[in-house]
Amino acid sequence: MNGVDPIAIATGNDWRAIEAGAHAYAARGGRYTSLTAWSADEHGNLRGSIEIPIKVGVVGAQQASNPTVALNMKLLGTESATELAEVMAAAGLAQNFAAIRALATEGIQKGHMTLHARSVVTAAGAPDTIFDEVLDRLVQSGEIKVWKAREIVSELAAQAAERPIRVPARAADVESMGVGYGKVVILGEHAVVYGRHAIAAPVPLAIRARIERCEEGIHIMIPRWGVEYELARNPADRRSFERAAGAILDEVGLSGRSMRIEVFPEVPRGMGLGGSAAMAVAIVRALDVHFRLGLDDAEVNRLAFESERLAHGNPSGLDNTIACYGKPLVYRTGKPPLVELLNIEQPIPIVIGMTGAEGLTASTVARVGEAWKQDPKLYERIFDQIDGLVLRGVQAVQDNDLVTLGELMNICHGMLNALQVSTPELERLVAIARSSGALGAKLTGGGGGGSIIALCDGDTQPVAEAIRAAGYEAVTVMLGEDVHAE
Ligand code: MEV
Repeated sequence: MNGVDPIAIATGNDWRAIEAGAHAYAARGGRYTSLTAWSADEHGNLRGSIEIPIKVGVVGAQQASNPTVALNMKLLGTESATELAEVMAAAGLAQNFAAIRALATEGIQKGHMTLHARSVVTAAGAPDTIFDEVLDRLVQSGEIKVWKAREIVSELAAQAAERPIRVPARAADVESMGVGYGKVVILGEHAVVYGRHAIAAPVPLAIRARIERCEEGIHIMIPRWGVEYELARNPADRRSFERAAGAILDEVGLSGRSMRIEVFPEVPRGMGLGGSAAMAVAIVRALDVHFRLGLDDAEVNRLAFESERLAHGNPSGLDNTIACYGKPLVYRTGKPPLVELLNIEQPIPIVIGMTGAEGLTASTVARVGEAWKQDPKLYERIFDQIDGLVLRGVQAVQDNDLVTLGELMNICHGMLNALQVSTPELERLVAIARSSGALGAKLTGGGGGGSIIALCDGDTQPVAEAIRAAGYEAVTVMLGEDVHAE
């Protein structure tokens, strides 16, 4: 009925009557029994059938008065009541198959660990502000119980006063976790794809991953994002979002093994903070720890780069390199790429302002690529100018000359705007940051949504508060501080 009811509701039919009819029908012989039957045909194909009384309508007061119902009917494209009943039966049969499959393999609860854990956290009364962190810690503990969730809520409440910024969750079994770091590009995004320099630094927001044993299949679970799926073993059958993780497993020769990959992201999705690269690095490192692959940093970085290639087409390698080494770097593509430590003597105070609108780096990189193809000379000149800003920026960072660095960031933002990767919301955040005292502000990462960074003269509070007052999320970080520190 989990397949049937939603269609009844969406099409303005009386789902309670359909439920009652189905249960009465299932019990018609005096004993409650199944509405479906499964068998193998003479060729060994699985064959399923469902028999269920469904009386529905496609015209009537509900359909006429509720515009959403009318839209749903249009989407479905069913013309007769019989056809609609058949769609419901088909969805019911498919759902029944999925449930039986889950029961016969991992079990409903395990296959729905994410959902189950979320409801346990809700039952424990976790406030919204710490919900995700409680969820991650609960799943990490392996004890998906309300008492455990309550314990975590109290622990976090006790720590809250001592935590001015978000820091990576500390799990007791942190050694079994692979870690990839989020990052901000200080100067040079997009131009770096065309062989120019960029400077970037890790932020104390990480993605952690760990591998758990499981009976069958490769399951990927990201509780915070409500994501849970089984990876197709055959690369040709993988959906787009499976390909990056799948490529890593293929490369290290583990795609034939069974495991559950649990991912705990603190780097928000699509905010230009290097989430996809951090996730790739975290998964590679987790596989390395669990299967004792003996990978060195260079190998981890190479594998994450391959996965990035699938995730966003034409990466420069900057994001995975920062995610892997977790250090501020000067970077330029090449064979081999130039990777040099960026020496930050005095930690640099910045505020990350998030638009909340997800930017897809693949799209903005492709957009710039298209424009470059149309007029390479014009765009090469812009990239050269950005390169000049980056090189002056390296000097400014080394001299701890924040005023100059801020100015360079402002100009760089103008050029990113010229590349048309900014958005009205990014512009708004940049303006808010500058008018509340930031020395400089620019979009960071791919753009098209995502985040800005604002360089502050010591006190980050006015900028962070102004961004929050406008309804956006702001996080203060000190670039150059050790993100590895426990
Ligand atoms: C994304 O963080 C930075 C870009 O330059 C893309 C890349 O370097 O791969 C936009």
